[in-house]
Amino acid sequence: MKIGVLTESAINENRVATTPLVAVDLIRLGFDVAIETGAGSKAGYSDEDYLAAGASIAPSAKDLWSTADIVLKVRSPNPDSAAATDSTLPLRSGQILISFIGPGQNPALLETLATSGATVLAIDAVPRITRAQKFDALSSMANIAGYRAVIEAANCFGRFFTGQMTAAGKTQPAKVLVIGAGVAGLSAMGAAVSLGAIVRAFDTRLEVREQIQSMGAEFLLVDIEEDGGGTGGYAKVMSEEFIRAEMALFAQQAKEVDIIITTAQIPGKPAPVLITGDMVHSMAPGSVIVDLAAEQGGNCELTQPGQRVVENGVTILGYTDLVSRMASQSSQLYASNLRHLINDLCPEKDGTLTLDFDDQVVRAITVVHQGKVTWPPPPIETTPAPKATATPVANDPKVAVAEKSTSNSLIGLVITALLIFGVGSVAPPAFTAHFTVFVLSIFIGWQVIWNVTPALHTPLMSVTNAISGIIVVGALLQIDSTSSLVVILAAVSVLVASINIAGGFLVTQKMLAMFKKEH
Ligand code: NAI
Repeated sequence: MKIGVLTESAINENRVATTPLVAVDLIRLGFDVAIETGAGSKAGYSDEDYLAAGASIAPSAKDLWSTADIVLKVRSPNPDSAAATDSTLPLRSGQILISFIGPGQNPALLETLATSGATVLAIDAVPRITRAQKFDALSSMANIAGYRAVIEAANCFGRFFTGQMTAAGKTQPAKVLVIGAGVAGLSAMGAAVSLGAIVRAFDTRLEVREQIQSMGAEFLLVDIEEDGGGTGGYAKVMSEEFIRAEMALFAQQAKEVDIIITTAQIPGKPAPVLITGDMVHSMAPGSVIVDLAAEQGGNCELTQPGQRVVENGVTILGYTDLVSRMASQSSQLYASNLRHLINDLCPEKDGTLTLDFDDQVVRAITVVHQGKVTWPPPPIETTPAPKATATPVANDPKVAVAEKSTSNSLIGLVITALLIFGVGSVAPPAFTAHFTVFVLSIFIGWQVIWNVTPALHTPLMSVTNAISGIIVVGALLQIDSTSSLVVILAAVSVLVASINIAGGFLVTQKMLAMFKKEH
């Protein structure tokens, strides 16, 4: 199949959907890769770089729309924009488009795309589940935006971030407040801490406390009990009372900090206004606010999307193109996200894409398929995060489930006891002792593993590996037995336990590789 990569026509969009490095990988997967001439120039990649990577150069967008089987873009094609070169060339039947789409915000665009008969994969609809992290372009971009927000703030801020002791005197470190500890917020914290600032952070989701602290920032709390954890790793809308309490906290912080970076958002909702005009006026002149939620209306009352405004000496940056300001880096990460996706959709590595709708990630990102709008997808079950506080209530269904599982354990115990008693009454004493240990270990093992929360399954794997190791040792001690039945059983145990150990290491290795930096 032929992959076509188009030039982005949106104003201030410097990214490109594939870089020469990624083009090499796509060609290795069996695809032909064609790039519209000049598509990578604003991100620092020339036509010659793509040619050297083995891709071909297409003279125009028109050429690519009519010949490519798969079209890769960053922004969705905008059928309403007269300036968009791609608007005049809709998709054709059988073609696959992969790009940001914003399916929740653009129902009309979905309808338009559906009339083409093509299939559209929205890269911004990737669910936030562990397996899909490598395709999560929203996270890749938010990571860059958080970093860039700090760089932009530093650029406007007239002082060092770090405190210094110089011959001329002492300088105080800058104080930075980050509101919202999602991907962008955590990245901003990391960047600000590494520049030497004192960083404080606030989020409605209590589960992010450790993540904030691990970035070297201080977690601020309000004196009100409400957790903002919603579904799918995102936040829920907070009560008015909570918003009032957090705004009182920000009003107090505004007087103390030099820089505020706001990233608070709930997907599909307008951004909550958390920094009022009065708070801006209470900040010291020279302070900076970077409002990452500017595109959704802004977290600061005085933000103007896309603009830099100065109010009472405080600079408010509402840039909506932070990612595009680092186009080389963001193109590389975005292209890598697409490469991982295409790699998974091409199991035979033969240059063809296969869409398996039983795969919940594939189903989630397919927003248009063969002329039909397939958005929204059925809800996906994500790993429940451990709750910071949980006080059981009498009529809570979770309590009922817990009670049910306790009675299940009791029934299990009774059955186990009866089994041991029954066997013990007929079998020789030596066998009964071994049998008791065997049945009890099955019962305890089952109880322990069943009660482990899914988030802890990886460490659990190490424990099962250790148990498998003990089984191998036990079986090896028995394998020279004179009874052929014992030898067979021991050999089977060694085999099964070894498979478990090898499999465990393989999965752990794969999981660790996800977190390793590429050199
Ligand atoms: P995210 O959903 O991972 O994080 C948002 C965080 O805000 C969550 O942790 C949530 O709990 C928190 N939050 C929600 N309501 C809150 C409240 N009332 N008070 C305090 N915290 C609250 O989102 P992500 O990926 O980190 O993106 C953050 C923002 O950055 C989004 O608005 C996104 O559109 C924007 N962004 C902006 C870019 C730009 O160029 N300006 C580029 C990329 C992302």
